[in-house]
Amino acid sequence: ESTLYLKAKKVVITAGPTYEPIDPVRFIGNHSTGKMGFDIANEAAKRGADVVLITGPTSLTTTNDSIKVVKVLSAKEMYQACHEVFSSADIVIGAAAVADYRPKVVADQKIKKNDEEFTIVLEKNPDILASLGAIKTNQFLVGFALETENEIEYAKSKLKKKNLDLIVLNSLNDKGAGFGKPTNKVTFIDKDFTIFPQELKSKEAVAKDIIDQIVKSYVE
Ligand code: C5P
Repeated sequence: ESTLYLKAKKVVITAGPTYEPIDPVRFIGNHSTGKMGFDIANEAAKRGADVVLITGPTSLTTTNDSIKVVKVLSAKEMYQACHEVFSSADIVIGAAAVADYRPKVVADQKIKKNDEEFTIVLEKNPDILASLGAIKTNQFLVGFALETENEIEYAKSKLKKKNLDLIVLNSLNDKGAGFGKPTNKVTFIDKDFTIFPQELKSKEAVAKDIIDQIVKSYVE
């Protein structure tokens, strides 16, 4: 059991995919299960934090009744939910797989098929973490990065660009890491660009390491 606590800290976590509506019955989504975010939420609650979990659609449930779960569908809704709680947050962890784009026009009625090609024009979604980074006062901001090349360099530039305090780099080059897998291999990079490589572990164990790292860099 870790002795690093988060008592009386308000921790906001985003998790899961976002669904970007096309019409009343269709959407653009992704394969995120939300597991990493839910594991972090459960672990933060165990350590005594006051946890708000803002999640896109997932089949997961939390293991701790004290966690406040806010269910959202789209990136726009997730953005709003995050900004509503941000001023009272101490720590924000962005573990959601937010869609980068959304359909520019959402049809009021179900779109009918015909024999023609069909084009959906996409517009950019806001970057939720970057928008929080731009207005933060004392909040400690944690982001994830999933890269396939120049991992450390890209992660460092993301940390800077989004004004984060810690970034968790997921390596796709490691078998067993990432999307839909029960395990993850991560590297932490803090604000001073100090690099902390971690072993391949279960996502529950990675969640523990993430909370430990946050407590070390922020609370103490
Ligand atoms: O820029 P990229 O999508 O690689 O950044 C990933 C990090 O930024 C994750 O922590 C993710 O939750 C967050 N993010 C966000 N809003 C977006 C896109 C990414 O909060 N629109």
